Amino acid sequence: MRVGIIGAGSLGSALGQRLASNGHEIMFGGGESAQDAATRCGGKMGANADAVAFGDVVILAVPFAAVDCALAAAGPFGNRVLWSCVNALTPDLSGLAVGFDTSAAETVAARARGARVVAAIPPFANAIASGMLRYDAGLEPTVFLCGDGGEAKRAVESLVRDIGAHPVDAGTLSAARFVEPAMMLLVSLAYSGVPRDIGLRLLERTGNA
Ligand SMILES: NC(=O)c1ccc[n+]([C@@H]2O[C@H](COP(=O)([O-])OP(=O)(O)OC[C@H]3O[C@@H](n4cnc5c(N)ncnc54)[C@H](OP(=O)(O)O)[C@@H]3O)[C@@H](O)[C@H]2O)c1
Repeated sequence: MRVGIIGAGSLGSALGQRLASNGHEIMFGGGESAQDAATRCGGKMGANADAVAFGDVVILAVPFAAVDCALAAAGPFGNRVLWSCVNALTPDLSGLAVGFDTSAAETVAARARGARVVAAIPPFANAIASGMLRYDAGLEPTVFLCGDGGEAKRAVESLVRDIGAHPVDAGTLSAARFVEPAMMLLVSLAYSGVPRDIGLRLLERTGNA
């Protein structure tokens, strides 16, 4: 698949490397950091709008505060799938900037013209970059997919599998209102005190065990 990535920081560059190693073609949109990330994964780099034009799927991996600016520069999406990795973290990472009656996912969808948005917050960048997304008991972390279109969700689901995570359909885009606080909990547990290498996993009893 051709994957455009807007945002080449910790997460965007880790996703680029992992997806490139699974045979996907990558183009980063952005400035100097995009050039470095593209070089590391053997991909291309351009402006945000170039990454949109390149991608079958476009990944948005910028801080919540940068969403408006990044999407304004991205231009119209022409019905492309936009995988939003954005959580609504405040700049100091101490809490969520929006919640209860909206979400980062819905903010992205309101700004991304002509995009089919699927919100799916990946595991921590350092875990993705390590190339080994297995935790104790051999379990991969769950990535919850929120979106209103089945085909778009399936495209993102297949990329989530390719990074080595466990995709779970969490429902419509507005279900991100529930997912984002859970991911905030994870950030809080990982970084308050001694850093911990942790992920979230949905457990289920189907009666088949
Ligand atoms: N890091 C994680 O483990 C993780 C896990 C799950 C979800 N997330 C989510 O992923 C998003 C990114 O997190 P991060 O940790 O990767 O942040 P980060 O390391 O601070 O990187 C942010 C990137 O966004 C770029 N950027 C900012 N404004 C831009 C614009 N207008 N156009 C294009 N690129 C722009 C920055 O480029 P410059 O350096 O050139 O400014 C930088 O490369 C956040 O919403 C976060 O909640 C992160």
